[in-house]
Amino acid sequence: MTAPITESTPAPASDSDRVIIFDTTMRDGEQSPGASMSLDEKLELAKILEDMKVDVIEAGFPIASNGDFEAVSRISEIITESVVCGLARAGQGDIDRAGEAIKKAKRGRIHTFLSTSPVHMKWKLQMEPEQVLELVTKSVSHARNLTDDVEWSAEDATRTERDFLLRCVEAAIKAGATTINLPDTVGYTYPSEYADLFRDVIANVPGADRVIFSTHCHNDLGLAVANSIAGVQGGARQIECAINGIGERAGNAALEEIVMALKVRGDRLPFVTGVETQHITRASRYVSAITGFPVQFNKAIVGKNAFAHESGIHQDGMLKNAETYEIMKPEDVGQIESNLVMGKHSGRHAFREKLKDLGYELGQNALNEAFQRFKDLADKKKHVFDDDIVALVDDALASGSDKIQVKHLRVIAGTEGPQEAFLTVSIDGEEKSANAQGDGPVDAVFNAIHAVAPHAAILRLFQVHAVTEGTDAQAQVSVRLEEDGRIATGSAADTDTLTASAKAYVNALNNLFARKEKSAPDARVASGF
Ligand code: KIV
Ligand code: ZN
Repeated sequence: MTAPITESTPAPASDSDRVIIFDTTMRDGEQSPGASMSLDEKLELAKILEDMKVDVIEAGFPIASNGDFEAVSRISEIITESVVCGLARAGQGDIDRAGEAIKKAKRGRIHTFLSTSPVHMKWKLQMEPEQVLELVTKSVSHARNLTDDVEWSAEDATRTERDFLLRCVEAAIKAGATTINLPDTVGYTYPSEYADLFRDVIANVPGADRVIFSTHCHNDLGLAVANSIAGVQGGARQIECAINGIGERAGNAALEEIVMALKVRGDRLPFVTGVETQHITRASRYVSAITGFPVQFNKAIVGKNAFAHESGIHQDGMLKNAETYEIMKPEDVGQIESNLVMGKHSGRHAFREKLKDLGYELGQNALNEAFQRFKDLADKKKHVFDDDIVALVDDALASGSDKIQVKHLRVIAGTEGPQEAFLTVSIDGEEKSANAQGDGPVDAVFNAIHAVAPHAAILRLFQVHAVTEGTDAQAQVSVRLEEDGRIATGSAADTDTLTASAKAYVNALNNLFARKEKSAPDARVASGF
């Protein structure tokens, strides 16, 4: 039995084969230790997801912090096609806050959840099953008073006693839930078991034909994508997933892997999504840049090597016919060959066309700024590749409205210490300079930043990688800072590694200051997931 799509979800190709893609990069993804995104970054990511035609964007957990609340409400204002969703525990306060955050959404959803497994009920909730059941009805009914699109999740569904799960799902449907999610919260299930769970619930719960069933799989055993697809084979028609598979612990099912598996294996998996897959690479790079989480080289679909052919036999086959070793084309996921694009004589028009090819539509100011950066880069670097342009545009988008900006930097480095940095920044338009020594040039740069902008943040991550090959490659630097439980990440690219390091640190600091102004510490409310 297959559930029909509800009124508030996009029109399916047909009721039986359309799978709703629910992105949780900004909610479950942001729960990855260390992954945190600023408001501007979330707004930009929401636009990328909408361009990609993701059906539902879970934009945050509004009760968790003022920052999460603001992100969900601002995203609700700017997104018009995708459903915007806010997460809530079962309490009225949580649900009201989520309802308030999605109020301005053209299509808003409240996603409320409650644990149903014996271990969660006993130790986390300290509630009896009958109390849990009652709260399911109460929470879903309350959410339905605020919006007609309500998702209910049975947290830890895969370790829940089956009879009790059926009763809870029935109660949620009766109370008005339009989507029922059966999460594999701890990444414990395996494909055939998960498919059977959906078959059983859909066949045995009255009213199951009125709702959409959803998967939500964690990757603790590396089975999240396989389990999600099995869930669909069992009757689910929504998959919750995250770009690059980021999420709590080992992460969530990776959106790009699910979407491409369904697309490439349509012969055996007769389901369709609405995702425009050529936006995948851009989304992946952007999430990696703003979280500072690198994508492993051999990662399926979006890894640097996902379409690279090294061995002679493979290269020979590829030259004769790409189908010998390629089951999908790099361009299907927006991986454009890193070819030589433009040099210092290229004009604004060509630059704008190139940006369009790479998936960017910039406003006039952002375009001017990116073009200026491109010209500066072309002066320094002989070959400017597509990856260079992506790095510099992401950099411009990340730092455009920064309160502190790096103006000049000179560093003394080498075998004879002390290493020393001379730095000038502008803070709200006013220039400030300092010099500082350090244990190595990067330490000296960071100490100089500390001297011009005193702060108590601790450096949690400093990471450098080359954007392209060659000694004149841009260095892409990510920095993560933490202060009082608040975490902020910054990134920057430059042909000078120390300049990129200074800019990335300052970008992280700006994000941290912005967080401090807007929100309470990030420590998630005691939600237990
Ligand atoms: O993993 C989980 O169970 C969750 C729920 C809140 C859906 O993230
Ligand atoms: Zn989860």
